[in-house]
Amino acid sequence: MDQGGVVLSSHLAEAFLNTPRHPFVPVFYRREGEHFSPRGNTGTDTAGWLAQVYSDDSLITEVAGVHAEDAGARSVTGAPTSSSTAPSLMADMLDALDVRKGARVLEVGTGTGYNAALLCHLAGAENVTTVDRSERLTHAARDRLATLGVRPAVRCEDGSKGVPSRAPFDRIIGTCSVRRIPSSWFDQLAPGGIMVVPIKGALAGGMLARLKKREDGTAAGHILHTPAAFMPLLSGNQEQHQEPEATGGTTRDSRISGKVLDDWTFSFFAELHLDPGTVRTYHRDADGTHVTTMFTPLDGSCARVTEQPEGAGARVRVSGPRDLWALVERAHEHWLSLNRPRREWFTITASPEGQTVAYTDPSGEVNRWSP
Ligand SMILES: C[S@@+](CC[C@H](N)C(=O)[O-])C[C@H]1O[C@@H](n2cnc3c(N)ncnc32)[C@H](O)[C@@H]1O
Repeated sequence: MDQGGVVLSSHLAEAFLNTPRHPFVPVFYRREGEHFSPRGNTGTDTAGWLAQVYSDDSLITEVAGVHAEDAGARSVTGAPTSSSTAPSLMADMLDALDVRKGARVLEVGTGTGYNAALLCHLAGAENVTTVDRSERLTHAARDRLATLGVRPAVRCEDGSKGVPSRAPFDRIIGTCSVRRIPSSWFDQLAPGGIMVVPIKGALAGGMLARLKKREDGTAAGHILHTPAAFMPLLSGNQEQHQEPEATGGTTRDSRISGKVLDDWTFSFFAELHLDPGTVRTYHRDADGTHVTTMFTPLDGSCARVTEQPEGAGARVRVSGPRDLWALVERAHEHWLSLNRPRREWFTITASPEGQTVAYTDPSGEVNRWSP
């Protein structure tokens, strides 16, 4: 099946055709600048509502812990905390997961329950376990799955611990992103099992890794071609880091502006060169100038990169012990020298101790990073 540019294998197409999305997203948010306004089916524009539900958009259902169904008529602000992922991205991940009937599957990040419903179709509901940290979400997802006649194990727990009582699993899929793959996921995946995991990067993106568990307990695989910016797996007390004022420090010129990071192929590569905790924000000044700020709470280094007119690179203000923008500049030169390698040409090996991404260039030289 070819829908909206995504080619689906027949068993995946069948799963999507037989699993409606609308029962899982009766109300979702529409973003207007900083504000998120709830949008439900009020009966006045059912066709418009359905068009959004069956679009290839991700639908945000929770912002700063406020569910769209609880927001009433008010709009809310803050960071999205749950959503129904864009269907084409779900399809890519499910395709990579290679789920067949009878496979024992764990999904971390139940959210609306829509992906769990697809997993039930593919593996059989009795084989599916899905976990989310939110009682509100798991309760609604359990009910909505039941109305479709499927009853997977829906747990409200911290998914970073997996679900030991239902292990082992043949497949694990993360629908929230992690910096490091939790050791419990290695423990609970059967040898030969596959996991598809969004690994959170320092920049806007992140990478989707598909890994197969080896007999020695480590896992190896590759990076998927799909860019994916999943919301993070929240565990324990989350540290919130305040963006520092980029004052003081020194100023210099750069050949490249923050806009280079808009290229998802490069931002993936650049991410490999930065501390995972690096934060990037960007905005446009009143006159339209593109400004990127990067900082790392690790040592307080900060770089503020202001685009110069007519493609003349950027002015950079750096403060703290390290020049963070120099890391991006070096990565950019390296990326060009390697002929702009695409993310799906990279391999990954991982263990509970960490992960290594590698690229073998056409001359046979192996480049390695441990982000
Ligand atoms: C993008 S949404 C998942 C989308 C979902 N698969 C669907 O089909 O609607 C990410 C989810 O991860 C959940 N999450 C975040 N931290 C978690 C944790 N530690 N354990 C389990 N779920 C977590 C959030 O509550 C959120 O619902």
